[in-house]
Amino acid sequence: SISCAFRDHANKIYIGAAVSPTYFSDATYQSLAGAQFNFLTPENEMKIDATEPSQGQFNYAQADELVQFAQTNNMKVRGHTLVWHSQVPSWMQSLTGTALEEAMKNHISNVMGRYKGGIYAWDVVNEVFNEDGTLRDSIWTQAMQSGFIATAFQAAREADPNAKLYINDYNIEGVNAKSTGLYNLVQELKTQGVPIDGVGFQAHFTAGSVPTDLQTNLQRFADLGVDVAITELDIGGAGQEAQQATDYATVIQDCLAVSRCVGVTIWGIMDKYSWRASTNPLPFDDNGNAKAAATAIEGALQ
Ligand code: G3I
Repeated sequence: SISCAFRDHANKIYIGAAVSPTYFSDATYQSLAGAQFNFLTPENEMKIDATEPSQGQFNYAQADELVQFAQTNNMKVRGHTLVWHSQVPSWMQSLTGTALEEAMKNHISNVMGRYKGGIYAWDVVNEVFNEDGTLRDSIWTQAMQSGFIATAFQAAREADPNAKLYINDYNIEGVNAKSTGLYNLVQELKTQGVPIDGVGFQAHFTAGSVPTDLQTNLQRFADLGVDVAITELDIGGAGQEAQQATDYATVIQDCLAVSRCVGVTIWGIMDKYSWRASTNPLPFDDNGNAKAAATAIEGALQ
């Protein structure tokens, strides 16, 4: 078991969790969220379908609840996410061309405006790459080609100049075709003066599969002049708790080894509430007891 809270050891990097008020009725979950972590990402509550279910009609009830929870518990917030191909409400899916561009800008300015000054970082664009390193075809590319990315970052900087602006993706943790496509994009955006501050590496792993070049890859992005962060870490490991624990420690050590790696966020807290619950991917079990992974995280942080 762990002797105290992750957050007490998080002196060099932050340690966060994806949190949802859906599970706040479970007192164990709620107390682990506030006691263990010093950063929070809303798991679903700041996505487009949650915040703007109909055009121009914004719903902030659940996002507000999480931001309030974070303030009460002295946690910072990563906003997630403003432009994504998934969880797009049907009204938005039916827009094209400049109408979609205007809706995107309006969405960014409204949502970021609501929390202006109160959010540490935003995932401005999420999961825009294919596995081969080309841009994913979506309503966004259909309306604006690759230009939607720069437009989104510019709108985001205007909406909240103090928030760190991130691009976020999965399967980009090692050096591969997808991460190299992203690397080339970030380099191009920086050259063009587009306001991008960071790259988020989701890190949805399986025990035994953490890329051995994770640190090297984080460092090559940092060398472009951006912050990097592990944003959605979970490690499928049913029946492999020791390997899972080793892997959690490895990811934290790799972040600590890169001076521009600002923090690690775990995509959930207790196994049973995970989006991939059957793989037991999280540091706390279904009853909220610390697993070997929790001990390893605590050890790696100090
Ligand atoms: O809230 C409704 C509920 O009213 C309804 O009865 C129920 C029936 O299916 O669905 C509920 O919504 C679900 C929501 O999670 C809340 O539980 C959605 O169907 C479901 O699609 C949604 O899944 C989320 C998924 O993103 C899609 O948005 C997961 O919780 C969330 O963990 C996952 O997170 C993503 C990141 O945002 C981006 N990176 C990958 C990561 C894992 O897929």
